[in-house]
Amino acid sequence: MKQMLNERTAQYRTYIEDYMTRYYARFHNEPQKELFEAMEYSLLAPGKRLRPVFAFEFCRMCGGDWEKAAPFAAAVEMIHNYSLIHDDLPCMDNDDFRRGRPTNHKVYGETLAVLAGDALLTDAFAVAASADIAGRDIAFAIQVLSENAGSLGMVGGQVLDTKSEERTLTEQEVLDIQSRKTGALINAACVLGVIAAGGTQEQLQAAAGFAGALGMAFQIRDDMLDVIGTQEEMGKGVGTDANKNTFVRLYGLEKCAHLVDTYTKTALDQLSAFQDTAYMRELALSLINRTV
Ligand code: IPE
Ligand code: IPE
Ligand code: MG
Ligand code: MG
Ligand code: MG
Repeated sequence: MKQMLNERTAQYRTYIEDYMTRYYARFHNEPQKELFEAMEYSLLAPGKRLRPVFAFEFCRMCGGDWEKAAPFAAAVEMIHNYSLIHDDLPCMDNDDFRRGRPTNHKVYGETLAVLAGDALLTDAFAVAASADIAGRDIAFAIQVLSENAGSLGMVGGQVLDTKSEERTLTEQEVLDIQSRKTGALINAACVLGVIAAGGTQEQLQAAAGFAGALGMAFQIRDDMLDVIGTQEEMGKGVGTDANKNTFVRLYGLEKCAHLVDTYTKTALDQLSAFQDTAYMRELALSLINRTV
């Protein structure tokens, strides 16, 4: 089981990294070289590639050819990377390390960091639109991507998160922030995987349900790691969200560990809508105690 988890994850990661590397290699003779350098510095830095893995695997669990989901997987990963570059800026979390390296603005300066993020976001839609699926499905996919990334989704969540330093929030408010800032892009990844496979309405709903619960577990674990993790292992600074309204601040570490467990199990309940779910079960369970 562990071998399947490691092997398939490595296969998906290599595939998406090659795909994104090749995509930008075509632009290396353009005059705005610093822009591409800054974009690739973040995009190709060693990340877990969890969102592409979700897109590929949901496509496969619907009986689709997983490689067909590659443009969607890349698009979500590009948007995720833009969100990280901007999240680290001095005007946001003001972080110096990401994926074991100095943050984008520390190397390229704030101007290029902002623009590299803008370009990754914008390019993501061209990449997604290149998917080899029917016109109506592409339009739907682009809508899913846009709504999850934009004002109602990740960006909306980041705004609420930034403002959350000003007062103590209720549980419902924290849930709302987490589901937007982190859940939304995970939702996009899972749902786009289903769309790439031409999955059913029931599968679309189950993918969204899985992502909602898993996204919550993922961000609660991220907030726990901000307290109990190490910079060496995680590759990013720890203790930097101490003033934020996280679940750790609301409930403490022990209750959070329990919540990660519960949300993960809720996510797993949604998998009955799919076939051949052993890998996804194993992956979700492995994230409960992740240290990276
Ligand atoms: C970090 O995401 C930001 C959150 C939404 C918690 P990941 O933990 O997936 O970061 P990478 O892509 O592996 O670096
Ligand atoms: C970030 O949440 C979510 C997004 C980037 C949208 P965090 O601010 O907790 O992520 P890290 O800990 O910096 O990766
Ligand atoms: Mg943040
Ligand atoms: Mg941050
Ligand atoms: Mg964090």
